[in-house]
Amino acid sequence: MVGGECYSNAPILNASSGFGHVINIGGVNSYVTGSPLAIFAILLVSDVYGFKAPLLRKIADKVAATGYYVLVPDFLHDDPYDPKNLTRPTAVWLKDHEPGKDFEEAKPIIEALKRKGVSAVGVAGFCWGAKIVTNLGKAKLVQASVLLHPSYITVDDIRGVNVPIAILGAQHDSLSPPTLLKQFKQVLKAKPEIDSYVKVFPNVSHGWALRYDPKNPKAAKAAGKAHKIMIKWFHKHLKKVRNLVF
Ligand SMILES: *[C@@H]1O[C@H](CO)[C@@H](O)[C@H](O)[C@H]1NC(C)=O
Ligand SMILES: *[C@@H]1O[C@H](CO)[C@@H](O)[C@H](O)[C@H]1NC(C)=O
Ligand SMILES: *[C@@H]1O[C@H](CO)[C@@H](O)[C@H](O)[C@H]1NC(C)=O
Repeated sequence: MVGGECYSNAPILNASSGFGHVINIGGVNSYVTGSPLAIFAILLVSDVYGFKAPLLRKIADKVAATGYYVLVPDFLHDDPYDPKNLTRPTAVWLKDHEPGKDFEEAKPIIEALKRKGVSAVGVAGFCWGAKIVTNLGKAKLVQASVLLHPSYITVDDIRGVNVPIAILGAQHDSLSPPTLLKQFKQVLKAKPEIDSYVKVFPNVSHGWALRYDPKNPKAAKAAGKAHKIMIKWFHKHLKKVRNLVF
């Protein structure tokens, strides 16, 4: 099945997991964590399993602990992919949740954050969430962007991004294989005014940064490495904005 890797290792969703809580901001329910007084905010965009995935919330908590107000918006509107629902196969689900379409919904969220005093916003997307990130980057609605094992992303999507972008891909990935990552790298190289970083993680598969087994030390280590690079990217590019503002 095309895109089957996007649906592998389904998490057990838990509406009350994580240190944070859910609020409605800009018209969208979001899991929020970290200090609401932070001057930088990060949006994490989920994969097909949505914002109740405990590991996604754990990653959000980890990013928040480095000094950000972190939001995981529910762009799936409480309708994540359900592998148990056999009457709604992935292709049918995907029709209702076309990748990237919901990026407009991030606009009022970002506006609400700015009104609260946030001076710069970074965004990272996993899998299905990647296209929302490239759309936000095209529209320059954020100041830094990260894709982790992206799906449904084309070379044109990457070419259109107008903000710093880091792309973390897996060696074993039929959706964004290393050959495609190489093309991403090439088009970004032709745009030196946009800072970019492309890395293929060896010996890992699509989904490794989010749908990993936390009890497997090797898997947890590889995921942790990806999270670290993502956080560093935000530090690098959002701090630059702070230096301009203050
Ligand atoms: C959901 O998360 C809460 C808070 O971390 C935890 O207490 C509870 O046991 C979890 N439920 C399940 C079914 O894992
Ligand atoms: C399965 O998906 C259909 C929509 O295709 C929905 O009407 C139905 O309620 C879902 N079933 C369950 C058990 O969630
Ligand atoms: C690659 O991953 C497999 C499965 O997780 C593991 O058994 C193997 O040791 C890894 N190889 C390297 C070179 O890390």
